[in-house]
Amino acid sequence: MEICRTVARLKDAVASRRGMGTVGFVPTMGALHAGHASLVERCRAENVTVVVSVFVNPTQFNDKNDLKNYPRTEEADIALLESAGCDIVFIPSVDEVYPEPDTRQFDFGAIGAVMEGAHRPGHFNGVAQVVSRLFSFVEPDKAYFGEKDFQQIAIIKSMCRQISSPVEIVECPIKREKDGLAMSSRNTLLDAERREAAPVIHMTLAASVARREWADVEETKKWVKEQIDSNELMKVEYYDIVDAVTMQSIDSWDHDGAVYGCIAVQVGSVRLIDNIRYK
Ligand code: PAJ
Repeated sequence: MEICRTVARLKDAVASRRGMGTVGFVPTMGALHAGHASLVERCRAENVTVVVSVFVNPTQFNDKNDLKNYPRTEEADIALLESAGCDIVFIPSVDEVYPEPDTRQFDFGAIGAVMEGAHRPGHFNGVAQVVSRLFSFVEPDKAYFGEKDFQQIAIIKSMCRQISSPVEIVECPIKREKDGLAMSSRNTLLDAERREAAPVIHMTLAASVARREWADVEETKKWVKEQIDSNELMKVEYYDIVDAVTMQSIDSWDHDGAVYGCIAVQVGSVRLIDNIRYK
């Protein structure tokens, strides 16, 4: 596996392999876990060259403390990527990715105005800035994203349409711990008591799917919030049940098209997100 710390070196490494076949790309912020590994493995199975980036992107953090506390585990990340079959890992500095400040403002319309977009101002703009830059460095055929960040996938697809990027976006299912908690780099920041409580998020979402037989959308949202908030270690920031393409709230289970429930929960100082498919 080749480790590249500059854009120039990365471009050379990719160029020397491009003629061999398709290039797959997995962007990450490091502190890698089995969820990330599942993306890399899928990318490995579907491409000749596998490129992974490990970069904690400052422009997508609306909370300075979150950026400061974000876990950084470079040595372990390199070991995980080596065993997952990565060919090229890109680990740049901030100056390498942003030689000048990125002042671009993306407009995602309604998709970006709700849920994470409403609660983390500037977050999706930063995600689009970094992913568009990474795409221009790597020029992959396919890029792999996890459904754990459900709204992020819609944002990336919108960004690609806006900049006419030809990259094919591949969506990968959520990997969970044995107790159901969605794997996340932030899980390591939970203390023992909060880590033990956190699986209630997925348990509640999973249980709410059956309730849809007799409860309407509003009642289901209310029930989920009440269940999770009844645990004194947790506070639901939002729970919304939305159309999987537009990200807008639905008001009836008769809604045409796929429907997901998306949640953000503050667990002590750690903010966790998760989602579930209703139909
Ligand atoms: P990060 O949180 O490191 O996630 C990198 C990729 O791994 C994302 O596509 C995310 O959805 C996926 N992922 C994380 N946890 C997962 C899980 N439990 N199961 C499946 N996939 C999972 O998302 C970002 O970084 C950044 O916003 C990024 C796109 C890299 C831009 O900076």
